[in-house]
Amino acid sequence: MTDPRMRAFRDRVGGLAYGGDYNPEQWDPGVWREDVRLMREAGVNLVSLGVFAWASLEPEPGEYEFGWLDEVMDLLHENGIAVNLATPTAAPPAWLTHRHPEVLPVMADGERFGFGNRLHYDPSSPIYREHAANITRRLAERYSFHPALAMWHISNEYGPTAYNEAASAGFRRWLRRRYGDLETLNEVWTTRFWGQVYTDWDQVEAPAVPRTWMNPSRILDFKRFTSDALLECFVAERDIVRSFRDDIPIVTNFMRFYRHADYWRWAPEEDAAALDIYPDPADPDAHVSSAFQFDLFRSLKGGRPWLLMEQAASAVSQWRLNVVKEPGRMRLGSLQAVSRGADSVMFFQWRAGRGGHERFHSAMLPHSGPGSRTFREVAALGREAGLLAPVAGTTTRAEVAVLFDWNNWWGLEELWGLPRNDFSYVDTVMRHYRPLWEHHYAVDVVSTRSDLSPYKVLVVPNAYLVDDEGAAAVTEFARSGGTVVMSFFSGVVDACNRVRPDGYPGAFRRLIGAKIDEYWPARPGERFTVDFADGHTATADWWREDIHLETGTALATYADGLLKGRAAVVANEFGAGRVVYFATLLEQDAFDRVLIGELRTAGVENRFDGLPAHLECTVREDERHEYLFLLNHDAEASVAVPVEGDGTDLLTGLPASGEVTVPPLGAAVVRRARRA
Ligand code: GAL
Repeated sequence: MTDPRMRAFRDRVGGLAYGGDYNPEQWDPGVWREDVRLMREAGVNLVSLGVFAWASLEPEPGEYEFGWLDEVMDLLHENGIAVNLATPTAAPPAWLTHRHPEVLPVMADGERFGFGNRLHYDPSSPIYREHAANITRRLAERYSFHPALAMWHISNEYGPTAYNEAASAGFRRWLRRRYGDLETLNEVWTTRFWGQVYTDWDQVEAPAVPRTWMNPSRILDFKRFTSDALLECFVAERDIVRSFRDDIPIVTNFMRFYRHADYWRWAPEEDAAALDIYPDPADPDAHVSSAFQFDLFRSLKGGRPWLLMEQAASAVSQWRLNVVKEPGRMRLGSLQAVSRGADSVMFFQWRAGRGGHERFHSAMLPHSGPGSRTFREVAALGREAGLLAPVAGTTTRAEVAVLFDWNNWWGLEELWGLPRNDFSYVDTVMRHYRPLWEHHYAVDVVSTRSDLSPYKVLVVPNAYLVDDEGAAAVTEFARSGGTVVMSFFSGVVDACNRVRPDGYPGAFRRLIGAKIDEYWPARPGERFTVDFADGHTATADWWREDIHLETGTALATYADGLLKGRAAVVANEFGAGRVVYFATLLEQDAFDRVLIGELRTAGVENRFDGLPAHLECTVREDERHEYLFLLNHDAEASVAVPVEGDGTDLLTGLPASGEVTVPPLGAAVVRRARRA
């Protein structure tokens, strides 16, 4: 993997990056020296600077104040702290939206988003784009060669959806590029239905009011367009900073399970995928969904290390109840990110704010100062981040992949009109991922455009919307010897959200070896009994399919109800591979048993079989070493882990061989020579 910019960045920070968002513009200069002293004490080697500082950098149109930033950049550099310099374009200043209210996004209900939050811009607004380009250029002119600069952080958490005039105009341009002429648009959007035929491009608008029962192909394309419009903003700023200097990595920070931007399309445009993640400390299972996110972020750029750009040192402030991260949990969550491929541990934010909406959001340096529990934990973790330097740049190998696709997410959740309208794609994906996590399988997350050749098993949760190329990729994977595990309501519609012809499941009928006559969503409270051919019995609910086997065989059949005797789980030998299709929502234990059984049959490597689920085990490696991460999520019991060969625990420096004991909420990172 050649990523010279990221390699240079790793060398620059000396391994893992450690630090957080730093907002000196909110503080008197007198505080800055103390900040930098304490940053050094905490092991900080990188700060994200200026994220929302537009109003401080350009207080009036065309009037710039860079003095404070010059001083801060110099001070950081003198103290050996590198800068991830942000373009401040997520927070347009009041003068801009006051002069040009059309910059403010109009929401789906027709209301204009007022000034006073952030992300208050329509990504399609030419005025916004012009001003964003201008401040970006000014920053790049001034700081591209500042010795503190180590990375560019473009804007922040790209996200707004806007229904402004400019969005409609942008949408029309986007549609013309995609479909060429109106005839094609009318065809792919099925506009003869309800007489929605367009005879002039000007009639095509962003789909604002009414919000329900809209044309599903139009909504789908508007989701795609919005993601692309935001991406254009990123690319425009990226290209400006790149035109000044080519060797500095450029990233933006993505969000956890964010539905409105297709990160598969974004990731190739940046040097590293970067994630902001705020698991709720009150949720005892939050680390499982974090694990999936971390695997996704490692996978977005084909397995390259990614960046944990923001997390909370303790509590957040966005929920009704914001509980603290109990002692040890922040460390464990941070090591978990590193164990799954992160080359950084960063926080929002360095110093807790006194005012503003996030005044109670925790920080590396809390209101209670350096004597606080949080600061002690932050400083201790900073030391450990230093000890983990050898891990930076290493990668992970997986033989199982889970398909995760934004178009399908939109198809399942953005629209009314499906056989049932309470699909949660994320919940479904997590139902498939959880058993893999509990059994310690290394998992990559893939799109239908990913290279599937490294995998033995491909897990396909509810792939309702799949385009022809995607369907062909999944089919080819099985044909050439892979095992596909697929769940119900897959392969139903094409890329334009039109039901595929010749019966369900259009794209996958041959693959699963069965035809579905009708989808039978369950009535509230309805449960079914399912008998497996191997003698097991399980319950199922939520969904059934009136399925007719063609080449497939029944792994399980319904034991009751009107579909009694019909297949509930189908197996089909296909080409050199195999497909298992779940036509109902099985109780989790039964689903897990079948899924894990298929992984074993497919010969997927598992070095941690038999270890307790709460001991998270992962491996990163390079040509010479492997790094075994053992993370104990249980707050009470230690776990003894057999470790082959001679290793060293990087966190303690002690030999680790024979057996390693991981204390409650504790961790070990064992380095040893790579097995042949
Ligand atoms: C992120 C954002 C930060 C901060 C943080 C904590 O989404 O990028 O600026 O607001 O959340 O809530």
